[in-house]
Amino acid sequence: MDSKKIIFSGMQPTGLPHLGNYLGALKNWVSLQESEECNTIYCVVDMHSITVRQNPAELRKRCRDLLALYIALGLDPEKTLIYYQSQVPAHAELSWILNCYTYMGELNRMTQFKEKSLKHADNINAGLFSYPVLMAADILLYGAHLVPIGDDQKQHLELCRDIAIRFNSIYGDVFVIPDAYYGKTGTRVMGLQEPSKKMSKSEMASEGNLVSLLDKPEVVLSKFKKAVTDSGSEIKASPEKPGITNLLSIYCAVTGKSIEQAEVDFSGSGYGSFKTQVGEAVVEELRPIQKKFKDLSEDKAYIDDVIRKNGERANEAARKMIVKVKRKVGFFA
Ligand code: TRP
Repeated sequence: MDSKKIIFSGMQPTGLPHLGNYLGALKNWVSLQESEECNTIYCVVDMHSITVRQNPAELRKRCRDLLALYIALGLDPEKTLIYYQSQVPAHAELSWILNCYTYMGELNRMTQFKEKSLKHADNINAGLFSYPVLMAADILLYGAHLVPIGDDQKQHLELCRDIAIRFNSIYGDVFVIPDAYYGKTGTRVMGLQEPSKKMSKSEMASEGNLVSLLDKPEVVLSKFKKAVTDSGSEIKASPEKPGITNLLSIYCAVTGKSIEQAEVDFSGSGYGSFKTQVGEAVVEELRPIQKKFKDLSEDKAYIDDVIRKNGERANEAARKMIVKVKRKVGFFA
């Protein structure tokens, strides 16, 4: 029997991941892949993304870019099951079934639904409402034990557990009850211009606030040079120095140094040269990723092949559970 832990996570193909997604989540995804004790499954959740209106050509491109970026970051499509959610009909099938085991009241409480309804007041569709049920289906379909997520998805994972426990209490031991995984090295990256808030895609207030993984070296450097710092001149992590603290933790996340070590290294150096050095360290981290991404983007046949083959593998992996669930509820399967 395979006693490895199954790890499942997904990311929406809405715009390319930024440095915050990378240091906070994706770097962890890669280290989980390297662990002997884990089977990793990472999904491009394109079905979730149509809860908000999308341009089809753009959506298609973003899905490809995200998949290529997964690979460029070090995810190996032979080791890790990376695939498109819409390639696997069992997600939609299980999602429908689980909808019938989820209460309106539970979905009404979801803070992300409330936020998104405010933002997209002209398109509060049923998919947006039942979004967390599809997410639960993603996770439960593969019997995932651990789900790497950011704290914004905590409530959705709690709901997933509640649905699974409810279903199991009626039909027996069908689903694995998953746990959230926050990772050891996940760094909370804050905006370069607004270090009191998390670096985020929607925070488009100022362009220099966010570093895209595909920003050119000179752009990365200039964003770091313009990063907001704090009063004083000491390079030390502290709650009174959110700007410096953020830069230090970014530096440590990419170099693997400890904060204490970095503080020693930078003692006596000025803010200007510190910011340049952090920018340079990030440029070095991104250089091989960008090179690989560029090569992959030019290899259409390879990406097509990964999408097709891994779609098949995912269908295969999902089959056992969907058949089991259908039988349990009384369908012919
Ligand atoms: N809702 C998640 C997000 O927006 C993405 C997601 C979809 C997901 N299905 C998932 C994450 C399953 C983890 C597991 O970030």
